[in-house]
Formats: sequence, C-alpha cells, structure tokens
Amino acid sequence: MSQAAIPLDPRNLSLLWATTERAEEIAALHARLFNPSWDVASIVNSIEHPASASFIAQIREPAMLAGFIIGHIAADEAEILSIGVAPEWQKRGIGRRMAEGLVRAARRAEVKRVFLEVAIDNMAAGALYTSLGFTPAGGRKGYYKHADGTATDAVILALDL
Ligand SMILES: CC(C)(COP(=O)(O)OP(=O)(O)OC[C@H]1O[C@@H](n2cnc3c(N)ncnc32)[C@H](O)[C@@H]1OP(=O)(O)O)[C@@H](O)C(=O)NCCC(=O)NCCS
Repeated sequence: MSQAAIPLDPRNLSLLWATTERAEEIAALHARLFNPSWDVASIVNSIEHPASASFIAQIREPAMLAGFIIGHIAADEAEILSIGVAPEWQKRGIGRRMAEGLVRAARRAEVKRVFLEVAIDNMAAGALYTSLGFTPAGGRKGYYKHADGTATDAVILALDL
C-alpha cells in the first residue's frame, strides 16, 4: 500500500550546482534509480563538461543528497540528460524544483528550446514534464534496452522558451 509523502519544508532544501566532489553520492543515487546506471566517471564527465548545467537537491537537516539533475546548455538548446530523486524523498516537489531550476538557467542563457527523452511507460517523469509545459516532439523506437532483451520506446519532449 502506498503512503502519502510527509511534506518537505522548502526551507530545508537547497538547490546547488553539482560539483565533482559529490559525484560518488550522485552515482550511488543514480544506481538506485536506473539500470543500467552511470558510473562515477560518467557523472564526473557530465559535470565537468563545459556545457554542463547540473544541480543537486540537498536536504539541509539531516544533511543528505535528495536528488540530481544533469543537463547541458549549448548554443540555443538545452537538454535534460538525467534526473532522479531518492525514493524516500519523492513526491514532495523536489523533481519539479530541480527541473524548474534548469529551465530557469536555460532562460538566462537565452536558450530557445529544452528537450529530453523519456521512456513511454515512465508515468511519474511524463507527468512532471507535462505539468512544466513539455510536449511530444518525436520518438525513438526501442531506445531503452533491457537485460532480458526487451526494449522500451522513448518519447522526445520539448519545451519552447
Ligand atoms: C521522475 C522523478 C524525478 C519525479 O521526482 P519527484 O520529486 O518525485 O516529483 P515531484 O514531487 O516534483 O512531482 C512533480 C509532478 O510530477 C508528477 N509525478 C511525480 N511523481 C509521480 C508519480 N509517482 N505518479 C504520477 N505523477 C507523478 C506529478 O505531476 C507531480 O505534480 P503534483 O505534485 O502537482 O501532482 C522521480 O519519480 C524519480 O526520480 N524517478 C526515478 C528516476 C526517473 O524515472 N527519472 C526520469 C527519467 S527521464
């Protein structure tokens, strides 16, 4: 049976630029949420990339990593490459705050379009992006490959700024 999430005091959450010092924690959280997941080197590369626009959601008390968003801003386009919230902190508005933070950074950089790929069966992420104004802009058949040989289609979502 699912339980209602305990509300999170917004003052207890900080949105911070992701730094490589936090790469191991981010990779550990990524591994809890995705299969296949990104290793520490991939996280470091993403954060160190010149086009990186990546944030973490940091709970202040008790101090812990609650989520991450890894994105790129290049020329007039931005891409959300990965977003995740620790299961125990989900459904408290953290994913929304991180995605809005990246969209804000994209606007400041005069980006015209933010896009991402999401599995067609990922209801939580799909609902989050739809509520932010993203709309379907294409698809990739069999994009996410699974260990058992099956695959899931991806939908490309885009937000024009
Ligand atoms: C997708 C994810 C990042 C959302 O983070 P979150 O902090 O739980 O989301 P929020 O609490 O900010 O919710 C924002 C909106 O997303 C939608 N949403 C979030 N979780 C949902 C769920 N389980 N079912 C349906 N809609 C959901 C709702 O529209 C919600 O708005 P509302 O609170 O006004 O109803 C989180 O579920 C996650 O980490 N999932 C696993 C990793 C993943 O799938 N990442 C996306 C890959 S593209």
